[in-house]
Amino acid sequence: PPRRGRSLGLKLSPLTIYTTNMSKRTPLIAGNWKMNKTATDGIELVKAISAAVGIDPNVNIVLCPPFTALSAVGAAIEGSHLALGAQNLHDKTNGAFTGEISASMLRDLHVTHVIIGHSERRSIFGEDDAFVNRKVHAALGATLRPILCVGELLAEREANQTMEVVRRQVEKGLEGVPAAKADHVIIAYEPVWAIGTGKTATPAMAQEVHAFIRKLLTQQFGAESAARILILYGGSMKPDNADALLAEQDIDGGLIGGASLEAKSFVELVRSASKSVAG
Ligand code: PGA
Repeated sequence: PPRRGRSLGLKLSPLTIYTTNMSKRTPLIAGNWKMNKTATDGIELVKAISAAVGIDPNVNIVLCPPFTALSAVGAAIEGSHLALGAQNLHDKTNGAFTGEISASMLRDLHVTHVIIGHSERRSIFGEDDAFVNRKVHAALGATLRPILCVGELLAEREANQTMEVVRRQVEKGLEGVPAAKADHVIIAYEPVWAIGTGKTATPAMAQEVHAFIRKLLTQQFGAESAARILILYGGSMKPDNADALLAEQDIDGGLIGGASLEAKSFVELVRSASKSVAG
């Protein structure tokens, strides 16, 4: 049955949705539309995706349109297998913060997920780890699931600093998050040099970092909780490289930019993720 339809209202916390299967992680494919698609375009896209995907218990799907399309896209996916995410939020609950959007405003639009600390936010808008951490707390406090993005720059990889950078971003980003909320957290590893460039980390390179992230999560939350946390890969994930990435043990789905803007490629990625479970 549809689990995230608007008809369920807000009484069912979105935070309980993915935690029923303790042994196996249900993969998640999340579309990050960035600053693309009007509400009108968005409706068309999600209708095509929903029609193609139907209800698939082997994969979860989240679409993250721009703020201006959240309401329309939310209405268009009502009762479907698709869930709604935002691309950012502000950490304060309300007040004189011109141009910003709070967690409760997102919840009011039936948003269940929110991307936090995307590399474009960090590099173009100057977000630091402390701000990212406050946003994570704001999201969790409003029962939104944060998709915390981490990843190294090309210069950092070349200087052998990948693990150090990822450690800092994970530890600072999740600072103060109690083990009781671990299941609500999603991590996205996105090597910055792979975002929108057509360069993907090889499956082995990505797996190495994903395994390291799970080790960090184990240190903070314990092995059982860490084993349930989804770690997505992002950075030029496309239909032709997804199978190999998703076959890796600690790659639990994808955060998809470019390939999420067209139904055909996005649906192919959803099918890859679904197949990775079935197979
Ligand atoms: P990309 O973007 O798939 O276009 O590389 C991924 C992201 O930035 O989340």
